[in-house]
Amino acid sequence: ERIRRVLSGIQPTAGSFHLGNYLGALRQWVRMQDDREAFYCVVDLHAITVEQDPKQLRENTRVSVAQLLALGIDPERSTLFVQSHVPEHAQLAWVLQCMTGMGEAGRMTQFKDKAARQAADHVSVGLYTYPMLMAADVLLYQADEVPVGEDQRQHLELTRDLAQRFNSRYGKTFRVPEAYIPKETAKIYDLQDPTSKMSKSVPSGVIELLEDPKRSAKKIRSAVTDTGREIVYDPEHKAGVSNLLSIYSALSGKPVETLVAEYDGKGYGDLKGDLAQVLVDFVTPVQERVRGYLDDKAELDKILRRGAERAREVAAPTLAKAYAKVGF
Ligand code: ADP
Ligand code: NA
Repeated sequence: ERIRRVLSGIQPTAGSFHLGNYLGALRQWVRMQDDREAFYCVVDLHAITVEQDPKQLRENTRVSVAQLLALGIDPERSTLFVQSHVPEHAQLAWVLQCMTGMGEAGRMTQFKDKAARQAADHVSVGLYTYPMLMAADVLLYQADEVPVGEDQRQHLELTRDLAQRFNSRYGKTFRVPEAYIPKETAKIYDLQDPTSKMSKSVPSGVIELLEDPKRSAKKIRSAVTDTGREIVYDPEHKAGVSNLLSIYSALSGKPVETLVAEYDGKGYGDLKGDLAQVLVDFVTPVQERVRGYLDDKAELDKILRRGAERAREVAAPTLAKAYAKVGF
């Protein structure tokens, strides 16, 4: 039986990824390399669904790749590439757009949410067809599995529908991928508002992987906790301290129960001080590795060229097969 194949993508973000991206997604990318054939891409085509400055976009893409490498994506074991380097993504996306109904696309809640926040003329058609590009990302590689968070579930459903629709119209062409919900994903909350998830849209409570570690430590030490004193894991009533425990557990590998026992009789200050140190110890070498990759332009280019070549070895034959079936 062939080893299971997984595909995942992440948008190039300005500045750096945040701790939620790592603990909720990228850490699993690293683990999945052990027992899966992994295709990981930085999805710059998706990024231009909202306006981007060209120089910034190029920079963000490279810094994103450097972070993936620094966090443990191994380009020898996995295929790591930039989406725009593999033209087959856009080529297949067109076919899939032509097989998607207007109403079907309009029901995507992520589109509805994003569109509702902007004036109609600022909402690009690309934002509307984003899920078909995502479907192309997945189907080109005949992926068995796609790790998805709650916010991507509906998009994966559409991907499955499109694969089945294509297969029944033209004959078996695409593998119908499954959602993969990794064990031990942590949902990380904002440090200043522990009822909403950590996100770059709330800068005060987000830990950026590439910010000065001293700044991160300070954010941990001034994280919002409740008025009690006891260190217990109770996300409903003690969201702040529970969030700190989840982060601590994820970074240290110690189960939450072990941490709760260790901090029995101690205060929030102890917990925050220790966690701040754990975080600094984690990000410091990551940042050094990121700098190393960014300083060696030739090496990063080489990694990406090889990644794109390997991606195309799979994507090009899939596209050729699909195009032939369509009548091209
Ligand atoms: P953001 O939510 O900051 O815009 P993205 O939506 O680009 O980040 O998310 C990239 C990946 O990181 C997704 O797999 C998403 O589920 C995960 N992720 C983002 N924020 C968090 C969080 N606070 N906790 C856990 N995982 C998260
Ligand atoms: Na998001």
